[in-house]
Amino acid sequence: MESMSQLAWLIAAVCFILSLSGLSRHSTAPRGNILGIIGMTLAILAALFSDKIDGGYVLLILALIVGGVGGSILAMRVEMTAMPQLVAILHSFVGLAAVLVGLSVFLSEMRSVLPASGMDENAEAFIGPDLIHRIEIFIGVFIGGLTFTGSVIAWGKLDGRINSTPLMIPGRHWINLGMLVVCVLLGWWFLQSTAFGSELVALLLMLVISFIFGAHLVMAIGGADMPVVVSMLNSYSGWAAAATGFMLSNDLLIITGALVGSSGAILSYIMCNAMNRSFLSVILGGFGADNGSGGPGIDRGEQTYTSTSAEDVAQMLRDAKEVIVVPGYGMAVAQAQHPIHEITELLQKTGTRTRFAIHPVAGRLPGHMNVLLAEARLPYDLVLEMDEINEDFPDTDVVLVVGANDIVNPGALDDPSSPIYGMPVLEAWKAQEVVVFKRSMGSGYSGVDNPLFYNENTDMLFGDAKKSADDILQALRQ
Ligand code: TAP
Repeated sequence: MESMSQLAWLIAAVCFILSLSGLSRHSTAPRGNILGIIGMTLAILAALFSDKIDGGYVLLILALIVGGVGGSILAMRVEMTAMPQLVAILHSFVGLAAVLVGLSVFLSEMRSVLPASGMDENAEAFIGPDLIHRIEIFIGVFIGGLTFTGSVIAWGKLDGRINSTPLMIPGRHWINLGMLVVCVLLGWWFLQSTAFGSELVALLLMLVISFIFGAHLVMAIGGADMPVVVSMLNSYSGWAAAATGFMLSNDLLIITGALVGSSGAILSYIMCNAMNRSFLSVILGGFGADNGSGGPGIDRGEQTYTSTSAEDVAQMLRDAKEVIVVPGYGMAVAQAQHPIHEITELLQKTGTRTRFAIHPVAGRLPGHMNVLLAEARLPYDLVLEMDEINEDFPDTDVVLVVGANDIVNPGALDDPSSPIYGMPVLEAWKAQEVVVFKRSMGSGYSGVDNPLFYNENTDMLFGDAKKSADDILQALRQ
């Protein structure tokens, strides 16, 4: 039976690798998802039938039912806009699982080597697991602990339950460094000790510090950096799962954990590049402290804006030959992707080339816009990444900015006092005409004003983006 389980785990690992490669393209993403589901089903079945499980089936099946039903309800209920919070809280479960597995592996291995006569009198003779295995347990519990509390804080910040302003305790870098040093010393104690009680004390003390470390690390990170934090915690949760795999000698967990850990790290790197932030400065936190103020900013004089109507925008579109749509978080809130897709179809039919420009951090989670547009069944070849389309704006007649703000803010390029200065943005203002769909002149996620709204070639179309898109559609059909 064990060799069958090993084979099933190997096949599941291949499924996960193929699943990840499938998820990297729109057209192959459904196949990637199916492979992931097959891999996970195989993994669960192989674990259930593995020789390592000798009883406790009732508990296991109960846990599977509770987890499966709970997960399904959560996934069905969650709004697309609340996905980042859900992802963050799910990462916390992986961290907690790594902690619990680490502690239970340690305690059960201790129990199996402790003589029945009692631990005190034999304490000196106590040996416990071998050195490498102890290192696995210690590192696994450490990563799990900080992933757990870090993810809970990230969930609280994203869900608006915890203030997203960074917590700037004086000397916080020294505090972090101090906690790391103490953990290393506790690790030394844990590895050297031969007495059961003191090993456990070292492990539990380190666990408490890792909880504080994870919470403090994420508390210090401001709202504007939260996208990177979510993918960074994704990476940590992968390494926590890999550490669990080492503790349990389970190759599948090691492979899957390494896949998640490294893909999360690569995604964090890509997102840091997209926001022009160094990875280290994100981890060290502090960015976004002045959330909402945005610094003094460039003096742009008295600013006026013009507003327009759906009928005028429809006419503008009828006259256009080249149109680019820039979707942002507001499109997700309004669920405007369906009427926007219908507008695109109408324009394509009348010979107006209409394409979509996707900024890497548009919305609130990686790939947010791609998911919405795929859900509206928009053809993949109309959807282009920032680097592929940014140079085409000067040759574009009309840009429709649908619920986007920060990702089209020219201040990111020319205002050194802006908190988003240096972040590459979609250069929509270079087009002939720009129409911005939003409900007010309010700021976006980073809390800074957007000079694009006051440009001569920009018109504001106020209202809920879905309602505006429906009205334009109606006007185009007349
Ligand atoms: P934002 O800068 O947040 O702007 C969204 C705009 O949508 C707002 O100005 C809002 O203006 C408008 N809006 C909201 N609801 C609307 C509705 N129903 N109808 C019409 N408009 C609506 O979004 P963005 O341009 O997509 O930029 C993303 C920002 O989020 C970046 O700063 C990024 O760093 C950050 N972020 C990204 C992620 C990831 S991974 N993508 C995760 C967390 C944070 P009104 O209120 O005036 O309508």
